[in-house]
Amino acid sequence: MAKTMLKGMNITGFPKRLLKRFVAIQNGSTADIPDNNSYLQNQIKNRLHPVVQHLVVTDIIEHGKDVKTFVFAPDKKKGTEVLAYFSAGQYICLRLTVGNARISRPYSLSSSPKESLEGKYTLTVKRVDGGLCSAYVLDNWTVGTELDASAPLGVFTYEPLRDAKTVIGLAGGSGITPFYSLAKAIADGDEDCSLTLLYGSRTQKDILFLDEFRALEQKTDKFKLINVLSDEEAEGYESGFITADLIKKYAPEGDYSIFMCGPQAMYNALDKEIEKLGIRRKFVRHELFGEYHHPEKNEDYPQAVKDSVFKLTVKMCDETFEIDAKANDTLLVSMEKAGIAAPSECRSGICGYCHSRLVKGDVYVPKSVDGRRLADLDYGYVHPCCTFPISDVEIDVPPMAD
Ligand code: FES
Repeated sequence: MAKTMLKGMNITGFPKRLLKRFVAIQNGSTADIPDNNSYLQNQIKNRLHPVVQHLVVTDIIEHGKDVKTFVFAPDKKKGTEVLAYFSAGQYICLRLTVGNARISRPYSLSSSPKESLEGKYTLTVKRVDGGLCSAYVLDNWTVGTELDASAPLGVFTYEPLRDAKTVIGLAGGSGITPFYSLAKAIADGDEDCSLTLLYGSRTQKDILFLDEFRALEQKTDKFKLINVLSDEEAEGYESGFITADLIKKYAPEGDYSIFMCGPQAMYNALDKEIEKLGIRRKFVRHELFGEYHHPEKNEDYPQAVKDSVFKLTVKMCDETFEIDAKANDTLLVSMEKAGIAAPSECRSGICGYCHSRLVKGDVYVPKSVDGRRLADLDYGYVHPCCTFPISDVEIDVPPMAD
């Protein structure tokens, strides 16, 4: 087999190259490596993927009572000179201290990639019932608030090698933000695709960015908005919910991709509708829906423990913490509530940034967010962002990079 694979390849020079490399290493300088911004490659890496971005709020736009758009600039006095460029659809992870809790939250960027080059990011935050982070942000951030965030992250982006030329976007609630960014990127000529956006809202007054979307429709014929109202009938609007028939009504002949962003309940309903369309799997993309709630609603959850509070032992570098962990809080949430700065980014079991070793104890991981590989299962690793304790537990957690 190996012989067949190597047939026709000239491998005689390989030992010589090895020797050459060995000699080069032996003769190399032993001086300290210069600081990490001295090489062009590192400068590019630091520009595109900074470990942390220091931001400052420069403006706040209110959309009704419980939704605000925050405008950010780089906080130059703290060392962030420029904002990292990104692809429409990506998010940044905010790092906050709320009371004693150290938390992080991913928010999709609603600004366009072009705006990042002009020194501007925007995030749109909607109040979530019982949500610690959204309430804190909406009630406390003012112009001048300083905060830290990650580099842009995530793969909910248009990829011409994989996606069809036309994207049908399905958005619910604040899941509209990555599509706002994509629509602007299309109008700016930064993405070469068309977007037909089916946007589900309860009533007309719940629609975000309506005027801005109408202006984008005037700017490019590659973007079209269809509003779908569930609790109201109005001329020029679809009513009811997004269904397979409604998607077919606006879909082009031939291939199209479906991008979905909204709450967990919307995915549950839409996945069934999309199945009826019979389109290829690679053409269906979901944005992450963030934190997993109510594991006890799953049939395979061990109901007997649902109201329990367990002991969680956390080892991080040389420190050990013993904290309480409620059965219906993820291990990550329990650590954050106890003030432990645990690493996290997507909070959806996908990015692997929170990857930690389960030393002892039993846990429950909902199937739909179990992003572990076989090796993780073999070697006992979990993602604390979507892992719930069902006994006392001990975990070994890597420290947060800063
Ligand atoms: S934070 Fe991404 S997998 Fe846990």
